[in-house]
Amino acid sequence: MSATDRDEHAFVASLPTDLYIAGEWRAASTGDRFDVIDPATEKVLARVADASVADGESALAAAHAAQHEWGRTAPRERAEILRRAFDLVTARADDFALAMTLEMGKPLAEARGEVAYGAEFLRWFSEEAPRIAGRYSTAPDGRNRLLVVQRPVGPSLLITPWNFPLAMATRKVAPAIAAGCTMVLKPAALTPLTALLLTEVLKEAGLPAGVLNVIPTTHAEAVTGPLIKDARLRKLSFTGSTEVGRRLIVDAADQVLKVSMELGGNAPFIVFDDADIDAAVDGAVLAKMRNGGEACVAANRFLVHESVCAEFTEKFTARIAAFVTARGTEPHSTMGPLVDAATRDKVAALVEGAVTEGSRVALGGSVLPGPGYFYAPTVLVDVPHDAAILREEIFGPVAPIITFTSEEEAVRLANSTPFGLVCFAYTRDLKRGLRLAETLETGMLGLNAGVVSNAAAPFGGVKQSGLGREGGAEGIHEYLETTYVGIADPFAETAE
Ligand code: SIN
Repeated sequence: MSATDRDEHAFVASLPTDLYIAGEWRAASTGDRFDVIDPATEKVLARVADASVADGESALAAAHAAQHEWGRTAPRERAEILRRAFDLVTARADDFALAMTLEMGKPLAEARGEVAYGAEFLRWFSEEAPRIAGRYSTAPDGRNRLLVVQRPVGPSLLITPWNFPLAMATRKVAPAIAAGCTMVLKPAALTPLTALLLTEVLKEAGLPAGVLNVIPTTHAEAVTGPLIKDARLRKLSFTGSTEVGRRLIVDAADQVLKVSMELGGNAPFIVFDDADIDAAVDGAVLAKMRNGGEACVAANRFLVHESVCAEFTEKFTARIAAFVTARGTEPHSTMGPLVDAATRDKVAALVEGAVTEGSRVALGGSVLPGPGYFYAPTVLVDVPHDAAILREEIFGPVAPIITFTSEEEAVRLANSTPFGLVCFAYTRDLKRGLRLAETLETGMLGLNAGVVSNAAAPFGGVKQSGLGREGGAEGIHEYLETTYVGIADPFAETAE
């Protein structure tokens, strides 16, 4: 029986819902549990153990106790655990997809796409673990020798968001495992079930007790605050809003923690006058509507050359109009609900504000009747260049379109934000594409491509979009630190 036609209740009842500390599933020390809600029905899906401050402390103690031994395991052993986890996640793709659709809302087809994307971090970092390398060289003066070694940074706190419940967890957990770090994972309280299922799989793959400790909680600040100030913690990795990230960086300063921050974005999607418009429309649909627009990398502003704006807008709007909004488990659904009422209401308020400021609704523009937190896929045109919606991260299925007249203006508009996570640009001019790679203030550029996410690539932003990179050859270095050994000239004569 496939995951799609099995009884949902039985499936959810089969998922782990306890904390995972020191290799054991356990209830919260307070006995408290919290509700996980299906955003398409607004009904309770499951009740998950709600970690207390004491549970956070136990999780860090377990990670700290396991670090010494885990940090000395053979890279090949860590690689094989990750590779087995990749195989297990892939074998249970239907389970992971259904868990994500139920707790987060995305359609099953998209959830399956996330399983492939999320699993890939396990495979990629299984391949990186045996390749952690140092170097040995001769000092420029020809005398001393320089030995550089890489070591696991140590116990790490990983805080993951709700929008990609699997991929955002594997993007942190896999490199930490590969590097030889132990960890405490705090998944988002809106979507803890996928992370707990991943934990079950990693346990089955042979991850030793104490290496991964998982503490879903509704008291995020109270539970993680003391961990960040605890001298046993050495690393903090966070994906979420710039507002929270900024606060965490301040907290992390106390222990001078190594930090990775994957924060907010305000991605421009630029269509130049020489672009292949059909390809640009394909890319725009992906860049905007992947994950229902609930992604830091979602295109937030469409900057279209005035000479091609009418054609682009007409074709793009027709494609957006074809989205079918329904519960993600429905086979015909291509757009699920937003994750909760607050997210839906924020999107609605941004659209209302844009209309008040003079934008015109070409499509959608309204909350859809419940139950469920649905918002109509929306296209806004004639958006004033100073509209608030162009400055805010929308995190929903809304596409505001503005025009420009020159490359210089497009770059100025694209850069006119404190964020710099990703830009998308469509042009047939190779030289222009290369110029954009040097003039756009961004960590990532999709050149004639509507999706840049790839386990083999360094994901991350500049400016207020973050610090550090996840994935690629760079990703493992977030969990390593460098020790340099200065060695006296081996040919120097020693005094007898
Ligand atoms: C994000 O929204 O933070 C991540 C999106 C991705 O990895 O593609």
